[in-house]
Amino acid sequence: MHWLRPRFLTRQFHRPVMLSGSGWRWWLMDESARQAVRTLDRYLWNKDAEGVTLLTEKAAKLRSTYRLALSEPSGTSLYFAKQVAQVPRKRLGGLVGSDNVLLGFNHGTAELAYNLALDERTTHGVKTFAFGEYFQYGLPARQVLLQEYLTEWQSFDVVWPRVNYDAKLRQALLWKLTDMLVAFRDAGIHHLDLHPGNVMVSPDPEAPLRAIDCGKMSTQADPALSAALHLGVFLHELNNKYAAVSPQLEVDQQCAQNLLRHVVGSETGFSTAEQLLPLLLRYSTKRPFSRRRLVQRRHHTLDLQALEKNLQN
Ligand SMILES: Nc1ncnc2c1ncn2[C@@H]1O[C@H](COP(=O)(O)OP(=O)(O)O)[C@@H](O)[C@H]1O
Ligand SMILES: [Mg+2]
Repeated sequence: MHWLRPRFLTRQFHRPVMLSGSGWRWWLMDESARQAVRTLDRYLWNKDAEGVTLLTEKAAKLRSTYRLALSEPSGTSLYFAKQVAQVPRKRLGGLVGSDNVLLGFNHGTAELAYNLALDERTTHGVKTFAFGEYFQYGLPARQVLLQEYLTEWQSFDVVWPRVNYDAKLRQALLWKLTDMLVAFRDAGIHHLDLHPGNVMVSPDPEAPLRAIDCGKMSTQADPALSAALHLGVFLHELNNKYAAVSPQLEVDQQCAQNLLRHVVGSETGFSTAEQLLPLLLRYSTKRPFSRRRLVQRRHHTLDLQALEKNLQN
């Protein structure tokens, strides 16, 4: 069955191992994480493991995140783990590592692949140490990523309201956001769920932002449309979803346009992106709207009027 697995998995990781009778199979990237993998394996089997804390649980328990604290001779090591339970429809996609309409998006294998790509191509990713899988009827029903723990980092949506007294700090955060978007542009990566809860801020003011929750990405995006959508999604949320009739915006349209110019001012599609951005600031692009379909268009084929009608519905 090894031949059915995606290349990146069989190339970049050691052959998978089972560490107990838990049923979980582990792909290790980094030997130093073996002890953490053992702890996680024990926890997933019978919850009998010290130092594992459940952080979040989402969408009828389909996704859970954990913090692992391991006592080692050199001190305590922290790890982050994210478990994805796959609905049956997505399990074949998880096996072969394709994400498309037929096999499903957003399975653990896609999340792993995009995390690795982001970490390889930019300074805005998170390091992955291991990947675990639990099979049912020959398909991965549960998958788990073991990653670096971002100690004392906080998500952007937590940091932003805390610095509401300091316009300079806020401006610095927005410039950091554009630095990250420039890196995404250069790497040809579009993160399809880049809201402020999925961007982490370090306590070190020099450190770049990190993007997490990478299950849905596109590597076929039009650069100008991609930048407009990244900013649109992010700032729509930061502006409290543009809630009121005359909303008090945290980041106004002029500022948003300046940020956009900084990221894709010299791209051929900039003028389309400039017209697209106000729509994305105003309207939600959550499902049933397809962000993926929007960024995979080419800017010269975009009909903005039709798009606005679509967004209004
Ligand atoms: N590597 C990490 N280190 C520390 N905390 C993290 C890390 N990755 C995510 N988190 C925290 O866990 C939360 C959930 O992670 P996320 O990947 O966004 O999962 P979900 O799919 O449930 O939104 C994040 O909002 C963040 O606070
Ligand atoms: Mg998230």
